[in-house]
Order: sequence, then C-alpha cells, then structure tokens
Amino acid sequence: MKGNISRNAERDSFASQFGLVMAAVGSAVGLGNIWRFSYILGINGGCAFLLIYILCVLLVGTPVLIAELTIGRRGGFGAVGAFQALAPGTAWRLVGMVGVLASTVILFYYPVVAGWSVGYVFESIFNWGAVTRDSAAAFAVFSAGGKAMLFSCFALLLTAFILIGGVSAGIERWNKILMPLLGGILLVLALRSVTLPGALAGVRFLFFPDFSKLGITGVLDALGHSFYSLSLGMGIMITYASYMKKSADLMRATVSIITMDTLIALLAGLAVFPAVFALGFDPGQGAGLAFVTLPGAFAKMPAGQLFSALFFLLLFIAALTSIMSLMQVPLTFLEDELRLSRRKGLAIICVVLAIFGAPAALSFGPLSDFHILGLDYFSFLDKFANDFLLPITGLLGTLFIIFRLGTATSKEEFLTGAEHPNGILAKLYPVAIKYIAPAAIALILLNAIGLF
Ligand code: PHE
Repeated sequence: MKGNISRNAERDSFASQFGLVMAAVGSAVGLGNIWRFSYILGINGGCAFLLIYILCVLLVGTPVLIAELTIGRRGGFGAVGAFQALAPGTAWRLVGMVGVLASTVILFYYPVVAGWSVGYVFESIFNWGAVTRDSAAAFAVFSAGGKAMLFSCFALLLTAFILIGGVSAGIERWNKILMPLLGGILLVLALRSVTLPGALAGVRFLFFPDFSKLGITGVLDALGHSFYSLSLGMGIMITYASYMKKSADLMRATVSIITMDTLIALLAGLAVFPAVFALGFDPGQGAGLAFVTLPGAFAKMPAGQLFSALFFLLLFIAALTSIMSLMQVPLTFLEDELRLSRRKGLAIICVVLAIFGAPAALSFGPLSDFHILGLDYFSFLDKFANDFLLPITGLLGTLFIIFRLGTATSKEEFLTGAEHPNGILAKLYPVAIKYIAPAAIALILLNAIGLF
C-alpha cells in the first residue's frame, strides 16, 4: 500500500473543472451520438423514445456514471488499481480487468471508423467527383483499400502522440480545444440542415411522438444506448476520475456530462436527418448512412463539398476524443500496475493494436471472408464488447458499490467537493444504484445472450 501512496503522489491530474468535463464529454460524445442515436430515435417513435431514453439516462446511466467516477477518484488508480486499492487482495480487481479488456477490444476497431472519417475529409476536398458519382461504390473501394488503413494508423498515432503529453498537458489540453470546435461545427451543420426546403419531414421523423412504434426492443435499445453513449463499462470513467482532484465537483461534472451528451446527440440528429429527408434520401443505420447516404445528400446542396468536409471533420473529432479515453485505460493500467513509463506503455499498446487492429481495418477488404461465430472480425469485436463486456463490467461495478464499497461511502465521495450536496442527484443515487441500475443492466445482459 505504501508503494501505492507514493505512486499516487506523482500522479498527473486534470487542472480545471472545465478541462475534466471537456475530457469526459469528449469521451462520451462519439460516433454513437452522431448517427446511431438519431437513427434509433427515428425508428422507435421519435419523441416517445426520447422520453424513455432520458429516463434510462437518469435512472441507469447516471448512477453507473457516478459509481465509476467515485470508484476512480476514491481508489486513486485506473480501472484495475482502483478496485485493488479499495478492496485489497480480493477478486474485485477482475472487474477492472474486464473493463481494460473491453476498452482494448474496442480500440481494435473504433479507430477504423475514425480513419474513414478523416479520410473522407480529404475525399470530400480532393476526390469529390468520384465520391458523388456513386457514393456506395466509392465507399466500398475506399474502405477496402490501403488508404483506409493508412488513415486508421494516422488516427491511432495522433492519439498516441496526444497521450504522450499526459493527462493535463495532453488529453485535457486537446479536449478543451476540440470539444468547443465540435460544438461550433455541429451548430453550423444543424442550422444548414433545418433551413433546407423540405427539412420538416426530418424534424418530424426525429420528434413526432408515436407511442405505437415504441415496443420492448425500443426500451432495450434506449437502455443499451444510454450505457454506450456515456462510455460506461469500459473502465474509462474510472480511469479519468483517478486523475480528478478531491476539489473537483463530481456532481457538476455528472450533470454536465449527461446534459451535453444528450444535447449533442439531439443536435446531431438535427444536422443529419432534416438534410437526408429534404434531399430525398432514406435514413439508414450506421456506416451506410454516414459514408454513403450523406455524401449523396451533400452533393445535392449548395456548397455541399464544404459541408461534407465539415461533417467528416466533426465525425473525426468525435471519434478522436473517444479514442483518447479508450487508449488511456490500458495505458493507465500499464503505468499503475506494471510501472511502465508512458512512452513504453504507448509503444506496447501500438504494437498490440497493429497486430489485432489491422484485421479490423482489413475486414472490409481482403479479410471480408474471415468470420468468427458467423460475423466478420470487425462486427464480432463490436458485438463481443458491447453486448457482453460492457454490461458485465457495469453490473459487477454496481455490485461492487452495493456489497463492498458501500453506497454511503460512494455517495460521500460523490459529494466531496460538491457545491450543492443536497441536490436531487444525491438523493436519487443510492436508490438507483442499489435497485434500478443492476436490474436494468441484468436485463440488457439477458437480452444479449438471448434469454429475454
Ligand atoms: N460514447 C461513445 C459514443 O457515443 C462511444 C465510445 C466511447 C466507445 C469511448 C468507446 C469508447 O459513440
């Protein structure tokens, strides 16, 4: 323990409340906010789904977020070290291990999409003719080729470069610039989109409350997405919180994170769907919408090339700030547990990623026939992490609070440094973490393994 304490004294920390909020929001706001949220909102009955989603965020996402923040700050170490410090010599550290595994697995494929995004900034500028002639064919060629691979490497190396700077001079500094920039670009795009003639259909797709379209799948979608969107169950928030000072206001941070994550998802919906409808396209999910439908739609609007470049820059920033948080999880693990220097840790991570990440980039080209359990490598990683690892870490994390750390201790940590310790969150948290969150996450898990 002595060693731990002295290691702790050398730890970097977020320099300001604004900086730590920007970093956490940077992690939370990712590809999930830009297109997945609005899509599931649309197909599940718009406003009706929004209400359920907000409820899931408040009753499940928020308490789990608070749990992770308090585990990280109180433990003073990353995902594994925090459990170790709070429950020395027990098996609870395995929960942290699953978290580290989850972020590492996601790191194998998430940078591929970041690579596509930055690649498409360049495609929009230099190859616009080919992209708009047949956007589906252009994307198929692009994602299968060497360019996509190079851009993914670029995204990874840029992240590693930022992380060499450390938490305050790397992650915090970059997020303080990138997140406001993301907000600005998003506002421009949303304004452009909703002022197109015929945009109302898209606004209606998003917000028309149609309860008849909201079924049990919609509720499960809302639950799962609230978890994913807040970057929970991956050890990220535990890791980030381990760099937060005791004077940091975790309550204010929590409110900022959940509000901004949801608002940005809504704004992204307004940037994408009105344009898609106004220009006569079908809303579709995932990569298809962003990389195939949108370039087609941009091509039909005035100055579309500029808006296209801006959109993919937005997507890249969203992905980059999420990748930073992902990579910091195994990095902190290597620093805390194996006492490696940051540079050595990053070098090891880059080598591991080159080995296990490259097949993800290739799974749209040469490796498209390589399947695991019937899924291509990329989709397999995505499913394995999101359907299993995330809910498992989330559930075990809540059990840790209930049975080991204690709800009262966690709440006390939450209120240390809080400006308004009597807020509604403080009252709601113990009930939500004890009863509502575990039940809801168990439901997600049962659904993932097909038992519900
Ligand atoms: N929260 C991110 C999103 O909404 C997803 C994410 C973040 C995934 C960090 C992995 C790591 O897209």
